[in-house]
Amino acid sequence: MSDQPQPLVLAVLVSGNGSNLQSIIDRIDAGTINARIACVVSNTPDAHALLRARRHGIPALTHDNSTYGNRKEYDAALVKILAGYGVKLVVLAGFMRILSEVMVTAFPHAIMNIHPALLPAFPGLHAQRQALEYGVRYSGCTVHFVDCGTDTGPIIIQSVVPVMQDDTEESLSRRIQKEEHQVFPEAVRLFAEGKISVNGRHVHLLA
Ligand code: GRF
Repeated sequence: MSDQPQPLVLAVLVSGNGSNLQSIIDRIDAGTINARIACVVSNTPDAHALLRARRHGIPALTHDNSTYGNRKEYDAALVKILAGYGVKLVVLAGFMRILSEVMVTAFPHAIMNIHPALLPAFPGLHAQRQALEYGVRYSGCTVHFVDCGTDTGPIIIQSVVPVMQDDTEESLSRRIQKEEHQVFPEAVRLFAEGKISVNGRHVHLLA
């Protein structure tokens, strides 16, 4: 018998390209995160992230929001799906839906999101555009636990990038994404190793 603890069981929720999903898959495949992605769930059938998952033999499902009357019903069905896979951590990797308290209470301090700005600055949509329009010199990305607000939960890791004078939304987004692909898997690794504790708004990371 090996001494290695059981891998953390993850679900990754997506809506689009899935480059953050890929960064987590790659770290798991490289053996540097002790986790298993039990399923990838998209709210839309055409997310490229679903193809990435299938390429790695990960169950990839569409849980289509257009077939549900409201957010709570959608989330209740999602909780059932995730519970069926024995999920312990839910990772929102470009999932373009706000979760209701139904999901948040089912996974207390066990849902992580990545946001492309230094929260609490520029929450919500088009964070990179908001940062450029405001004229900040630095932006970055934030991994945080999800609560019932929009990008308001306790902050786990942040990474700072400079904003250049000639940046466009695209060039700034690319620079931020490079950092996302480092810090998001790192937050998952810390969680998998039991190295994250939360006290109110404060997240304590063990070295
Ligand atoms: C990322 O920029 C992330 O910050 C935001 O959505 C984007 C998802 O990109 N929440 P990808 O689908 O992981 O490539």
